[in-house]
Amino acid sequence: MPEIYPINDYGPIMPGLVMGMVAIVHVFLAQFAVGGGILLCYFQWLKMTGRNENAGKFVDGYFKVLVLISFVLGALTGVAIWFTAIQVSAGTIGAMVLNFHWLWATEWTFFCLEISAGYCFYRYQDRLSDRISIWLLGIYAFAAWMSLFLINGILSWQLTSGNWLQTKSVADGFFNPSFWPSLLFRTVVSVTLAALAACVVINLMSIDRQAKAKLIHKASLLLVPMMLMPLLGVWFLAVMPGDSRSWVLGGSPAMMLFLSISIGSSLLIGSYTIIGLVIKNLFINGVTATLLLILAFGATAGGEFVREGARKPFSIRQVLYSNSIRPDDVARLREVGCLADDPYPLKTTLTFPNEQLRDGAKVFRRQCAVCHTVSGTNGVTHLTSTWDADQMRMNMAKLQQTKPFMPPFAGTATELEALVQFLRWSHDGTPKAWDESKQLIVIQQIQTWLDEAGTKPGNYKQYETLTGGDE
Ligand code: HEC
Repeated sequence: MPEIYPINDYGPIMPGLVMGMVAIVHVFLAQFAVGGGILLCYFQWLKMTGRNENAGKFVDGYFKVLVLISFVLGALTGVAIWFTAIQVSAGTIGAMVLNFHWLWATEWTFFCLEISAGYCFYRYQDRLSDRISIWLLGIYAFAAWMSLFLINGILSWQLTSGNWLQTKSVADGFFNPSFWPSLLFRTVVSVTLAALAACVVINLMSIDRQAKAKLIHKASLLLVPMMLMPLLGVWFLAVMPGDSRSWVLGGSPAMMLFLSISIGSSLLIGSYTIIGLVIKNLFINGVTATLLLILAFGATAGGEFVREGARKPFSIRQVLYSNSIRPDDVARLREVGCLADDPYPLKTTLTFPNEQLRDGAKVFRRQCAVCHTVSGTNGVTHLTSTWDADQMRMNMAKLQQTKPFMPPFAGTATELEALVQFLRWSHDGTPKAWDESKQLIVIQQIQTWLDEAGTKPGNYKQYETLTGGDE
């Protein structure tokens, strides 16, 4: 029997949402650090070749203020990601570490290299020759990009596991179908963020306007790769699994919205900067540059939300559902129940009038809590407020058909009834008295619905490898 990790309870806070927030901030900072390295090499080169008289001054300021901010906050949010991810989905992290521990170790060595090179530059910059400086910056940029390269393989594997499903080879998992579009896309985003931040920094420098304009024009060259974004975006969508693509392209209104925010903001930034800065050679003031950077944050947030959301109902495609239940374990859990191997007591201040309600709360925690709260964000009592008990029973027994981005229910009919009772009791304000629901006919009806729904994911026809194509 597979072991399960402890499942934590956060009441009204939806773990998936917290994870998303931390991830967005971290990705933004981390990508900025990658782009920052590349941009600094470029400006150091401008300085060394005498192409811009203020390039050296810029390198000092940019590195000290921004790279260090992204460095420190990037590292802190990186730790925060681990912390949150382990709370939210220890199963997912477990599977990632199990399959890719060597790659992960390699990623950390590059991270160490990045930190060391960055620190040396920061500490000894005034005493270093230009040649050594550009070497250090080069190492910094390369190491930062390599950690993107490595982590990108692991993250993209979560969405498109490709041939790995059959071969289980690390190389197949790492160089999965979305590896290249995603790596190139993130690299372009990284230099874009760095260039926008550069425009803010240049505006803060104490040099005259004309000198600023010259620097901005140089920085804006790094915005040119943005033109590749639509192409890379389409490539990414093309390699995405069909059902994920259908969520983002309209199947899920929220996802559609976030994708539109992301594309809209990118288009705005792209057209403004390419036309204004690169072609017309216009000046961009600090406020505008800051606004563009905020817009870029919005684009990143939208993009990350879509990437995270598009995996539903999986956290690792065809390997693990978001609630850490394995697809090939659902049939067994339908027999033995999902409470049998969950030894962890509930942490709650609620007083349950009967044991059935306590069981229901545990079923909710195990199967639903990663994406729902009881009555807060995406609260199930709200979503079902107009349903009667039978509608709840049927729609939850057929969960993967109710909404194909939810996993199939993975427990017994009795457990499903406990869940329904728990939700109804919560909806009614957790009254002190509540009768246990024990009618055999209800359980039999639920069993029929469960059998009708089967144990495969909602879009199982797309997962022939998972099902063996036997139905
Ligand atoms: C992978 C994440 C995920 C898991 C796990 C999950 N859900 Fe959902 N569920 C969603 C999302 C997203 C929605 C859409 C919410 C909306 O429409 O606002 C949803 C919608 C619903 C709805 C409303 C359906 C409708 O037709 O309006 C119900 C009821 C529901 N979920 C119950 C559950 C229950 C009960 C569980 C646990 C047995 C569960 N969900 C597990 C993500 C999930």
